[in-house]
Amino acid sequence: MKVLVVGSGGREHAIAWRLLQSAAVTQVFCIPGNGGTATLPNCRNVSLSVDDFEGILRFAQVQGVALTVVGHELPLALGIVDFFLAANAPIFGPTRAGAQIESSKSWAKELMHQAGIPTAMSAVFTDLNAALTYLGDRTLPIVIKADGLAGGKGVTIAHTQDEAQATLIQLFGGALGDAGSTVVIEEFLAGQELSILAVTDGQTIRPLLPAQDHKRLEDGDRGPNTGGMGAYAPSPLLTDSLMIRIEQEILQPAIATLRQRGIDYRGCLYAGLMITSDGTPYVIEFNCRFGDPETQTILPLLDTPLEQILLACTEQRLESLGALKWLPQCSVCVVAAAQGYPQKVETGHFITGIGKATEQGGLVFHAGTKLKNNSLVTHGGRVLGITCLAPTHKEAITRAYHALDNIYYEGMIFRKDIGHRALAPSTPETTALNSDPTPEDIGAQSALE
Ligand code: AMP
Ligand code: GLY
Repeated sequence: MKVLVVGSGGREHAIAWRLLQSAAVTQVFCIPGNGGTATLPNCRNVSLSVDDFEGILRFAQVQGVALTVVGHELPLALGIVDFFLAANAPIFGPTRAGAQIESSKSWAKELMHQAGIPTAMSAVFTDLNAALTYLGDRTLPIVIKADGLAGGKGVTIAHTQDEAQATLIQLFGGALGDAGSTVVIEEFLAGQELSILAVTDGQTIRPLLPAQDHKRLEDGDRGPNTGGMGAYAPSPLLTDSLMIRIEQEILQPAIATLRQRGIDYRGCLYAGLMITSDGTPYVIEFNCRFGDPETQTILPLLDTPLEQILLACTEQRLESLGALKWLPQCSVCVVAAAQGYPQKVETGHFITGIGKATEQGGLVFHAGTKLKNNSLVTHGGRVLGITCLAPTHKEAITRAYHALDNIYYEGMIFRKDIGHRALAPSTPETTALNSDPTPEDIGAQSALE
């Protein structure tokens, strides 16, 4: 079968690579893809924009594509799935209505309240003065979120009243356009973050292996938030009893409540959780797609053919697929980014050493790369993710950094402590991972890809 993947990040490279491991998948197309998908055997990049739905659908139909998988949130929020379904073309991802779970934070909050899902206390504002008045006597730090998709720039953890006020003034002043014309002000939660990506056919929902991301740019969880600087799976934080709570208190109520609203959500539901000191899993965000870099650690551990899972979701027969199978290994992904990320970065630098890293067992997933005259050059903020598997997290970390040592491009940056929490598994009680951020932590963010 032929599969089409929409997006251009490390996530999409990992999806394309995993699909091509399966004997049933003969060809993958990526729209628009990156330097990694361009060089993956039996994979071809197609130069179309992710919001050119007519072009994408026409391409899928002409090529006889059996399934389209949407990696990126933007086309989902714009309704690519509705467009495909109207033409009877199979596609993995929620409809525009379902994608609101990511594209409108106030909508997601409302859904969580209706479903009884534990989440931070919050209030929604469409007016600056009302928001400033509410802010008046709140405990700091406080979290201010633009309602809409903001390319990763939408969340500010304000440490002082001045910062909080300035953020509100900027948002209501149009700094993020429409995305910031509605604002959610939310209580700050301390604890450990955990990413639970689950696949669903709208009836049954199955979590994938739990992963932990490293959001901050610098070692020791310092510096500005990014799209994610590395991840590992499975997370030792997730006990059986915590998983049961997450399924019963979060995943199943979310799908049931979506159904009640007439939304047949088929795709990936990603719950970004904060596990607080008393062990309660709170939802800090839902995403309507696979996480990045989490997917780069989860998919290499997956033993069930990926296309079988995706098709079972789109055809609403996930229950009958049975339990998903996993390799009994640990997986660590270290992201290499470009100097300046998550703000402005230089592109066009030659990348060397990928062959050597691969020889040493590294799975090198590309994000911001492209082929220029047959040479691989940097083309974005997050450039590559290097994933290694091993029987222990410790060994996987060693292997990933060893493989990464071979890679070079001008201005390469990466964190040196990816996976550190897996080495010293700590209960949320003993961890202040997401404790008070410093003012410099809060710095401006730009597109986090
Ligand atoms: P989001 O875009 O909602 O994922 O938020 C980006 C990051 O901000 C999250 O990964 C958390 O690190 C942080 N964050 C968001 N909401 C909260 C909250 N209520 N309490 C603490 N940190 C938060
Ligand atoms: N790793 C965070 C995200 O995919 O949104």
